[in-house]
Amino acid sequence: MNDEADTTRWDVPTPVMVDIRLSVNRNDYPVTVDTRETLLDTLREQLDLVGAKKGCDHGQCGACTVLVDGRRVKSCLTLTVTLDDREITTVEGLAEGDTPHPLQAAFIEHDAFQCGYCTPGQLCSAAGMLAEVRAGWPSAVTADLNATPRLDDDEIRERMSGNLCRCGAYVNIVTAIGEVAR
Ligand code: FES
Ligand code: FES
Repeated sequence: MNDEADTTRWDVPTPVMVDIRLSVNRNDYPVTVDTRETLLDTLREQLDLVGAKKGCDHGQCGACTVLVDGRRVKSCLTLTVTLDDREITTVEGLAEGDTPHPLQAAFIEHDAFQCGYCTPGQLCSAAGMLAEVRAGWPSAVTADLNATPRLDDDEIRERMSGNLCRCGAYVNIVTAIGEVAR
């Protein structure tokens, strides 16, 4: 047996750091990121935007959902380095000044949260989902793929199924989104 340990397999490559410009909630942020860094970590650790939550860090709960160029993404699965010059919106950017986004107002009106941990992701996901419906995108439960989707409760439940709520506030979440959608 060779007494000299083979250390080559333990060599850890130097992290690769990249300078990029992030546009978040209409503000520009020059940041230096590790190429392995997720958007969720950059938002929370570098930009102090802690609205998006780390629930599972595996793309399963939706608590980290934000919008990139108006489309919802799970920020725990999105590498920040891919987002140079893209327009990112987090829950902190949904309101217009002191005026809450209609979805935020509806969530308050209908008691659509208990602990609130999932709520930032629910709100961003709902905002992205409403844009998808306006663009005519069908879901798995859309009966007529040629017609404009009608956002009934089944459609809302299906389209929001990527966002989990451990408190079980789904009934009021569906009601709140439905009020804004209809
Ligand atoms: S933290 Fe991203 S999906 Fe759960
Ligand atoms: S309100 Fe608590 S997890 Fe949804």
